Amino acid sequence: MDIVKRVLIAEEEIQERVRELGAQISKDYEGKELLLLCILKGGLMFLADLCRHITVPVAIDFIGISSYGHATRSSGVVRITKDLEQSIEGKHVLIIEDIIDSGLTLSYLMNNLAIRKPASLKICTLLDKQVNREVDIPVDYVGFTVPNEFLVGYGLDYCELYRNIPYIFVLDPKYYTHDM
Ligand code: IMP
Ligand code: MG
Repeated sequence: MDIVKRVLIAEEEIQERVRELGAQISKDYEGKELLLLCILKGGLMFLADLCRHITVPVAIDFIGISSYGHATRSSGVVRITKDLEQSIEGKHVLIIEDIIDSGLTLSYLMNNLAIRKPASLKICTLLDKQVNREVDIPVDYVGFTVPNEFLVGYGLDYCELYRNIPYIFVLDPKYYTHDM
């Protein structure tokens, strides 16, 4: 496709890694019930594939959080755009995120959720842009560590576009048509 400058992670690679993560999570949470807490909208594809490889009983909820607006860099301003539908008190919560960049979004969210007294609170991210981290957060499951480039596909967007593409790629610069 002409929007693709470079494919970073192919569809098969993603699917294989997601299977591995599912197996690991199933083992780690054996004998427990798990609440997968998906961060909208980026985590959606990852959640949908990952949950089908988890063998312990799973409940799913969603939280909408925004630190980006329409830009490609973190603003540091985080707000909840859609809150959870259920209480997480006493539950084993695993946050499902598409990518951790500065860490500001998750840092805010972790503090917000910890107050609600879950039995445990862990993070599973498909992508980790480790070199960009500004705040220290404990990441328990990582699919891939990625370089500091703006990535799209498999849930990740540029101005709400390209979430549906089944692989992760670097967008050709001529498609950066909106203000950043
Ligand atoms: P952080 O607060 O800087 O860690 O930003 C995390 C959020 O920024 C993620 O949930 C994404 O929605 C978004 N984000 C960070 N890097 C990228 C990227 O390369 N492509 C698309 N979205 C990104
Ligand atoms: Mg996101």
